[in-house]
Amino acid sequence: MKLSIPADIIRKVNLLREKISDADYRYYVLADPDIDDFKYDMMLKELSELERKFPAVITTDSPTQRVSGEPTKIFKTVQHKIPMLSLTNSYNFSELTDFDNRIKNILGNNKYEFVCELKFDGLAVSLIYENGKLTTAATRGDGYQGDDVTQNIKTIRSVPLSAGNNKIKNFEVRGEVFFNKSDFIKINEEQELKGEKLFANARNTAAGTLKLKDSAIVASRALKFFSYFLYTAETSIRTHTDSIQLLEKLKFPVNKYYEKSGSIEKVREFCDRIETVRDSLPYDIDGVVVKVNSVEQQQILGSVSRSPRWAIAYKFKAKEAETKILSIECQVGRTGTVTPVANLQPVFLAGSTISRATLHNFDEIKRKDIREGDYVKIEKGGDVIPKVLSVIKERREKISKPFTVPRKCPVCSTKLEKPEDEVYYYCPNYNCPSQIKGRIEHFVSRNAMNIEGLGESIIDIFIKNGFIKNYSDIYGLHGKKEEILKLERFGLKSVENILSAIEESKNKPFDKVLFALGIRHIGERTAKILSEYFRSIDNLIKATESEIVSVYEIGPKIAGSVAGFFKNEKNLRLIDNLRKAGLKFESELKNKKENKNFRNKIFVLTGTLEKYKREEAQKIIEDYGGRTSSSVSKKTDFVRAGKEAGRKLDQAAELGVKVISETEFEKMIDDA
Ligand code: IVH
Repeated sequence: MKLSIPADIIRKVNLLREKISDADYRYYVLADPDIDDFKYDMMLKELSELERKFPAVITTDSPTQRVSGEPTKIFKTVQHKIPMLSLTNSYNFSELTDFDNRIKNILGNNKYEFVCELKFDGLAVSLIYENGKLTTAATRGDGYQGDDVTQNIKTIRSVPLSAGNNKIKNFEVRGEVFFNKSDFIKINEEQELKGEKLFANARNTAAGTLKLKDSAIVASRALKFFSYFLYTAETSIRTHTDSIQLLEKLKFPVNKYYEKSGSIEKVREFCDRIETVRDSLPYDIDGVVVKVNSVEQQQILGSVSRSPRWAIAYKFKAKEAETKILSIECQVGRTGTVTPVANLQPVFLAGSTISRATLHNFDEIKRKDIREGDYVKIEKGGDVIPKVLSVIKERREKISKPFTVPRKCPVCSTKLEKPEDEVYYYCPNYNCPSQIKGRIEHFVSRNAMNIEGLGESIIDIFIKNGFIKNYSDIYGLHGKKEEILKLERFGLKSVENILSAIEESKNKPFDKVLFALGIRHIGERTAKILSEYFRSIDNLIKATESEIVSVYEIGPKIAGSVAGFFKNEKNLRLIDNLRKAGLKFESELKNKKENKNFRNKIFVLTGTLEKYKREEAQKIIEDYGGRTSSSVSKKTDFVRAGKEAGRKLDQAAELGVKVISETEFEKMIDDA
């Protein structure tokens, strides 16, 4: 560090970094934060500002460096100091016993113990710390050399950028990078919204994400990490559990399910126990890893070809079962979509009894030739609804007939319709009882208005008794309190709870209300985008289809659906009623500052930005109500080009997008 920097600045910078890493650790590793987001953001902002004023204080392990720099062009190759081995798989207990016997043969009379861990279904990475700082992160590759993904790994907040203590400064940590199941679902929803290819599972998504060249996109996804290996020459580690405990002490994330087992029988118990909790874990696992605990014994056992003799993977059985389709039923959703569902002969599979499976759509039934009465293979993956994999044709009865698509709605008998470019059939009757009920259920659901206590069965009762016909009637329920109390099963307390949950829901912000309306193709994220762009329902009602399409990330299908929804008089009346009830139809400006130069404008940042770091420029744009995107398209308003900007400039020229310099950018900030 240069002498010209005042000592108090250095002190301040160090203190901020320490506090930010501590907050990251508490939030991302311990899940026990002690400061709020605002305070955290302020600290990060203060640090960025100091680093901008005094660039000489920037270090590679500063929290501001978690997302920085230009997109990677090619991933450099990293040689692993110790090869990254793979594990032999075992699929049943007798294979585990064979593993135990092989060990017994080699170790003779010496005692040994095992450690059982979860086998995370993600990607192995190696993290190299030199002098207490994370210098290189690499993928497993072929086991001997992998790709340098340091920049992407740095975006994972639970991975310490600096770690170690007085004794241990140079070490290697290995572990698994993965996505939580819920984050994987979110990413796929976004892919769908963008019209991009969907990922098959959380593991592939994590692999795809680690190989992204733009670490800003990686940072926007919530990659997670668990460490399970530590190597350092600076201290002797005697057992695997010692190293796990040391990793914990060094503030690395360690999974809580690990256990010492004195015998292979105890290992089996662990495996059985884990299999029963598997589905309830927030992340995917595909088995258990069993390791000999003593490092000395690990060395004696050594490895054969590329797998250690001291460890084995016990893989859980594929979660498949065979059963009979009793009938195929068609369900009508809130938007009228008709989905076929198979009623099955109940069968026990991976922890629960299954009696229904989704058949997705009629194309799928045709493709797999699924018929009523067929014996089928079903599969249960993670926390998704079971699905029918294939038909066991040999067991099909001679009299069976192909399934025919119903012509009429199974609930209200209206003739079904099918848009040409879609696979789904729809019931076009807006007043179809199934749709009415579906819309109300959606309206009160957790991610919409979150009206607790108004569950499916209660909605059913309220509809049957004529208390509600649509979701706006919910806000008139307080006037029907006496009548509700006359119904069986409804006590004063429970009715009051429902009514106060209804009252409470009036505080929900505009984007939640917009989502709750149940417009076809409008998910939570789209509702948020539209509410931020248009700011009020009146603006959205007035907007033309082409105006809606011009919004970043909104395609023609969504725009058509929104415009269509507001053309319908009935919907406008519903909205009017909700407005009278006091729901929010305007978005509140949080801490965003007004600047018309930025509001709703889409920026692409490219090249090396001199004055502002990329994430600072991004923050300014977002604070003023604009958005940034990583690629230039027709919807881009400005390309903010720095030094050595390349291809994106050509694209801007091609599409006629305005390119602005740093000075012009600053001017936009100043003259709002
Ligand atoms: S130990 C030689 N522990 O499984 C030791 N691996 O087939 C190998 N994995 O590439 C690594 N959970 O991606 C270990 N608790 C765990 C693991 C684990 C998942 C993966 C890892 C590795 C593969 C080996």
